[in-house]
Amino acid sequence: MSSEVSNGDTDAPRAKRAKLEDEDDDSDEAAISPATMSKVEDFLLPFQLSLEKLREVSSKLRKDLIRGLGKHTHRRAPVKMLPTFVRDTPDGTEKGDFLALDLGGTNFRVLHVCVEENLQKVLKNDSQVCAIPQEMMQGPGEELFDHIAACLAEFLESLELKDKILPLGFTFSFPCEQKDIDKSILIRWTKGFACSGVEGQDVVLMLREAIKRRGDYDIGSIAMVNDTVGTMMNCGYQDQSCEIGLIIGTGTNACYMEEMRNVKRVEGDEGRMCINTEWGGFGDDGSLRDIQTEFDVEVDRTSINPGVHTFEKMISGMYLGEVARLVLIEMAKKNLVFGGETSEALLTPDSFETRFISEIEEEDTGLERAQLILTEDLGLPAGPDDCEIVRLVCDILSTRSAQLCGAALATIANRIRNNRGLSHLTTTVGVDGTVYTKHPHYSDRLEETVKTLAPKCDIKFLVTDDGSGKGAAMVTAVAQRLAIHSKLLEDSDGDEEEDEEDEEEED
Ligand code: BGC
Repeated sequence: MSSEVSNGDTDAPRAKRAKLEDEDDDSDEAAISPATMSKVEDFLLPFQLSLEKLREVSSKLRKDLIRGLGKHTHRRAPVKMLPTFVRDTPDGTEKGDFLALDLGGTNFRVLHVCVEENLQKVLKNDSQVCAIPQEMMQGPGEELFDHIAACLAEFLESLELKDKILPLGFTFSFPCEQKDIDKSILIRWTKGFACSGVEGQDVVLMLREAIKRRGDYDIGSIAMVNDTVGTMMNCGYQDQSCEIGLIIGTGTNACYMEEMRNVKRVEGDEGRMCINTEWGGFGDDGSLRDIQTEFDVEVDRTSINPGVHTFEKMISGMYLGEVARLVLIEMAKKNLVFGGETSEALLTPDSFETRFISEIEEEDTGLERAQLILTEDLGLPAGPDDCEIVRLVCDILSTRSAQLCGAALATIANRIRNNRGLSHLTTTVGVDGTVYTKHPHYSDRLEETVKTLAPKCDIKFLVTDDGSGKGAAMVTAVAQRLAIHSKLLEDSDGDEEEDEEDEEEED
């Protein structure tokens, strides 16, 4: 299967699904000629990464993690490694009533969360989802925050909580430079958001100001959280060895507990701090050019934010379907699918949704679903052999995504193990995101890659439901328990290489 990490160290694996290789298969549904199949395989070869390439990706990321943490190297580092001021994972003694806001996609959620001491679980009391209209995602920032404040007001009203002043965990799933747990400057929008007047501003302040403009309710202390951190913290409440948070949904990112002595941009050397890696930006300095295909380049060029979040654009749900669509158009032009035809729908951006990939790869129902998607949704003249070929395209793109993510996760696990001087690391990763949870083979492919690239790490994956909502409440709770803060130091501009750039790590 193409999903296996290739053992051929130098050659890229051939693009084949087991079924297509099976000469004895007596099904008469698909009859792709060997000549066509060979052309299809050749066409898809650039998407297939050898084990050696994956090792290279991991090694580049390892260096970029160090650059991101460094005081002199941070400014130009593509992987930002942002301190979160979260210094501990839950220990079970957290308790209280919290509000949580979760903004990171097309929907925005408000939650009222009750944490009971020693219960090993967060009780979610109530929640409400508010849609964010497309035009608001790209309109003035103040309007977005007024909308959030209005949704929160409606929610508090419905629960008769407007007169209570509750602490609030704010999951804001975009790259932010946190000056403190309640001061967070948006570095840049991602995932289709482009509201004006927010980049470079403190989003906590913007939220407080929007609430003040209304004047009909107030909130207590605010803890800002990235969704990766919320996911890690939510898992951490159930499993105290959870110290990595991973998201593979609309966007992708990971956080983990780093030793304070390595977090050069924050004063103090004692203990650990959770670092939001923002690994979506990996490759923004051109370091992944050798594995980017012409289709990745095109997806980036036509995106709302060209040149940024290169790694994310090769992996996450916002882009996977679009890469598939461009591949299928080119394959049709080369007469490899659909009898050389395209359709108006296929030529329309974003018409091939990422969820189609998961559906088409389902073992039993996938081919039937492919037939419906291709003919009914996309108006293509697709026969059984086209469905097989489209399934192969999906398989190869989702495998590449899972393997790249696996390579990145292995880098983090290896780093934690080295940091602690351990011969073997046992740890848990809290995971969320529809690409990981809805795809039939994604988690297996990812885990297999991690095992291969981080053989001395034993990693358990724990899928959270609603980590970014409940997890935000946990961050607020843990922050209250610890109530320790330290300062983010000014970056010094550096042409000079930092000592820690030479930091050696054994594999
Ligand atoms: C954002 C991250 C976020 C990730 C997953 C990325 O686009 O930059 O902050 O964690 O998406 O939601």
